[in-house]
Amino acid sequence: MQSFEFYSPTRILFGADTELQAGAQIRGLGCGRVLLVCGGKSAAASGLLGRVEGSLKESGLAVRTLSGVQPNPRLSLAREGVRQALEFGADFVLAVGGGSVIDTAKAVADGAANPETDVWQFWLRKAPLTRSLPLGAVLTIPAAGSECSDSAVLTNEETHEKRGLSSDLHRPRFAILNPALTLTLPPYQVACGVVDIMMHTMDRYFNPATDNNLTDELAEGLLRCTIQNGRRALEHPGDLHAMSELMWAGSLSHNGLTGLGGAKDFAPHQLGHELSAMFDATHGATLAAVWGSWARYCLDTNPDRFVRFGSRVWGLDASGKTPQEAALAAIQATEQFFRSLGMPTCLSELGCGVLEEATLKELAYRCTYYQTRTIGTFRVLNEADILAIYQLANH
Ligand code: NZQ
Ligand code: ZN
Repeated sequence: MQSFEFYSPTRILFGADTELQAGAQIRGLGCGRVLLVCGGKSAAASGLLGRVEGSLKESGLAVRTLSGVQPNPRLSLAREGVRQALEFGADFVLAVGGGSVIDTAKAVADGAANPETDVWQFWLRKAPLTRSLPLGAVLTIPAAGSECSDSAVLTNEETHEKRGLSSDLHRPRFAILNPALTLTLPPYQVACGVVDIMMHTMDRYFNPATDNNLTDELAEGLLRCTIQNGRRALEHPGDLHAMSELMWAGSLSHNGLTGLGGAKDFAPHQLGHELSAMFDATHGATLAAVWGSWARYCLDTNPDRFVRFGSRVWGLDASGKTPQEAALAAIQATEQFFRSLGMPTCLSELGCGVLEEATLKELAYRCTYYQTRTIGTFRVLNEADILAIYQLANH
């Protein structure tokens, strides 16, 4: 195992009614004026928003609510949130929702702490992020893992750029995980979340420094648990145990634990982000749509890694097969699982049709940030590689 640094400072409050502790948590951090960020309608419709606002007010906190965050959260709403946070004098930002809400809250916290800088400048790496407001999260969907991650992903809807920004300043001070809050999720969002949790683990598991270590065992266990409970959650809607397992797996899959000692790959995520940026496709579905093509393209880089993945995660028997055959079986098992969840495994199933070659080239060009970067570490991918993977997925 390579050297590593692990920093996961987020206090987790897991279990029934934990959202009622939001006010006391913020008060305990010495803050008094909260900008609460939430999504379109689910939190208000379920009564969650009212309960959280009540908890904040009971703790003597002043609250202003910014609603309307959309999936693939938009820069324009983050800018509006910064404006409101400054006007209100917010000293804390609380996200009530999923990854899109939490990422918007992170951007608002960044912008409010740096009123002289337009937030997008941080995402473009044109300004260094050196301070941010403290933030917390009440999670409503097991998926993105933003409640424990250092990352925030925003979409600039004018330029169709979807970009991530990682900073330890983005790690929430606390994350409230009440699995009962997820029971109103539509099955499609549950399925997208299952894929995303798996991909946060797999985008670390497939890395160049792979050896036999504890990190691998943790990743494989987390994947098995997510697969088993993902199946169960979709077959038995309302299964609280399954949603509890998924919720905790989602947080652990993206707090760094499942990748310790190895360089993150995250190429499938980058491939997926361009599809979201161009077609506003749902994050988890974009990952399912490209992963099989990424895996086939990269199989020869280290077939044994795929063989181990097939054996430990899917219980496949590799005996009598060449490493290439066994690796391919592992890829097929993964795609079969995605299909069983109703997830796409190619671009047409994602809903963007079979694309023209010029569109694929544009996607590949944008994925290199206009020829300024490669992606991935398991296999480093340049623009031609990226185009080849999009071509493989284009049916
Ligand atoms: O807006 P509302 O009405 O709340 O509806 C949301 C939204 O339509 C709905 N929803 C959430 N909780 C619900 C619910 N509906 C009913 N009951 C509930 N309890 O679900 C829809 C999707 O919400 P969203 O927040 O977009 O989902 P998710 O958590 O999957 O977040 C996706 C975003 O996070 C980014 C993705 O790229 C995407 O933009 N990611 C962020 C990461 C990070 N910051 O660490 C890492 C990830 O790899 C990912 O890139
Ligand atoms: Zn993701």
